[in-house]
Parts: sequence; structure tokens; C-alpha cells
Amino acid sequence: MKVLVASPTGLCFGVRRAIEALEATLEERGQVYSLGSPIHNPQEVERLKAKGLVVVDEIDQVPPGVTLFIRAHGVSPQVFREALRRCGEVIDGTCPFVRKAQERAMVLSDEGYPVLIVGDGEHPEVKGILGFVNGFAAVVPHRGRLEEGLNGRRFQKVGVLSQTTQKLEVFSDVVKALVGIVPEVRVYNTICSATLERQRAVCELASSVHGIVVMGGRNSANTRKLYQIALESGAQAVWIEHPDELDYGWLADKGSIGLAAGGSTPDWLIRELIERLEKL
Ligand code: F3S
Repeated sequence: MKVLVASPTGLCFGVRRAIEALEATLEERGQVYSLGSPIHNPQEVERLKAKGLVVVDEIDQVPPGVTLFIRAHGVSPQVFREALRRCGEVIDGTCPFVRKAQERAMVLSDEGYPVLIVGDGEHPEVKGILGFVNGFAAVVPHRGRLEEGLNGRRFQKVGVLSQTTQKLEVFSDVVKALVGIVPEVRVYNTICSATLERQRAVCELASSVHGIVVMGGRNSANTRKLYQIALESGAQAVWIEHPDELDYGWLADKGSIGLAAGGSTPDWLIRELIERLEKL
């Protein structure tokens, strides 16, 4: 079977950087705690747990004095302060693109702008960014929820930024709607370049293959977006977490397959998938 791999695809700069820092610390210390899963990929997390990684959900579950790793999604300033107070050492793996979004939120808030974040309010990155805002802040997943997000208030000015893995169209739609109802809108497009490049690569691939396999963790926001983009581009697409989930019946009538992987899908899983597809 002909296999075309989206380019770029797979591990993004921020996750690769964080995992390298985490692995180096594990080598040195033998045990490292992580606040939340350091990568949205269960297979990779299992591999790191075998090296001494311990994942906890809340800061108060971290025993005093241990080494704590802050994942690429970052945390709020309040959580970071508590981590410094509690732990012997804090390794900050916050992605520089997330850091930029946090800084933008803080600047907007300091300058008196109510802050809107276009994203998923349950996502840890967004929860962390919210912690940088003093004053009105709301999370809007898409244009249809804008009025609800503004809570019926008529602001004279609003600052808006995006979750780093947001789809560009969703962000633009919210910005366009805001411009129609708020006199002053300050926009920071904080979608990271790794996300934009991966989304464009899937669009391009869609027209040249018979189907697209998107691989990535079920809990990976950017993988979900790649899958949606593949479908919206008119391609037949499936989303798998591991090569074992391949549906050979679905593949049977397809002469060429495109492959895309979320920003937290490790290289070794992508290699395994390519090998299996090329054998068909
Ligand atoms: Fe960073 Fe973008 Fe990856 S924000 S963690 S480079 S998806």
C-alpha cells in the first residue's frame, strides 16, 4: 500500500523538548513526579513510568521535597508558587508557545481588558492561562457560545487570545463576531506554529490519498483537531491511538493512505504504523 505521511506531523517542538527534559531528569534522579500526564499518549506515559515517573492530578498529592515536573501545558502562577513551596526541585517544561499565551493574558489583564480565551475550558493549558488574569475572564469554545461567554455584558473593550492548539477558523470566527459587538478588540493569535503547520499538512494530504489515518491519544486536543480537519477536508478518516487498532476491512479498498499524528504521538509509534501499512 502507498503511504504518504503528512509533513510535518507527530511530536511537536514543545512536547519533544518537555519529554527530553523529563527523561534527562529521570536519568539523574530515578524518580520524578508530574502534575498531570506529561504527554497525552498512554503508551509513552507507560514507557516513562517504567523509568520512575509518578503522575498525580493535584498539587496536594505531591509529597514534600520531591522533584516535580511541570508539563508543556504549563500551570497557573498559584499552582507554580505552591509547587516551589512544596517540592525540593521544580523542572519547568512549559512550552514557550504556552508561556507566550500566559504572558499575553497577563498583559491584557494588567491593561484592564476583559480577557476571552478561545478554547476548551476543561483543558489544563487553558486553566493555567486563566490563572494569569486578574479580573473578567471567560473561555469560549466557538462563536456560537460567545454571548454566553460574555455573560450578557456589553464591554467597551475586550482582549482575545487562543488556546495554542485551536483551529484557526474557529478563532477567526470568534474574532469576527467580537469586532461586530465590542468597540475595541485587541487580538493575540496564540495558536502555535507547530499546530498551524500540522493542520495545513493534513488539509494538503486529504486531496491526494484514499483515506487518512490519524494517530494520537484519545485525550489529545490537537489530535482531535487533526481528525476533524481530515473529515472537513472531505477525506475518509479514522482516528486510532495505537497501530493495533487498525481496521483492515476499512483499509482494504484503498490504494493509498495518508498518515497524520498528533503533537504528542511518539516517533516509535509512527514508525510502527508506517511499517504495518507498507506491508499491506
Ligand atoms: Fe507547544 Fe504547540 Fe506543542 S504549544 S506543546 S509546540 S502543540
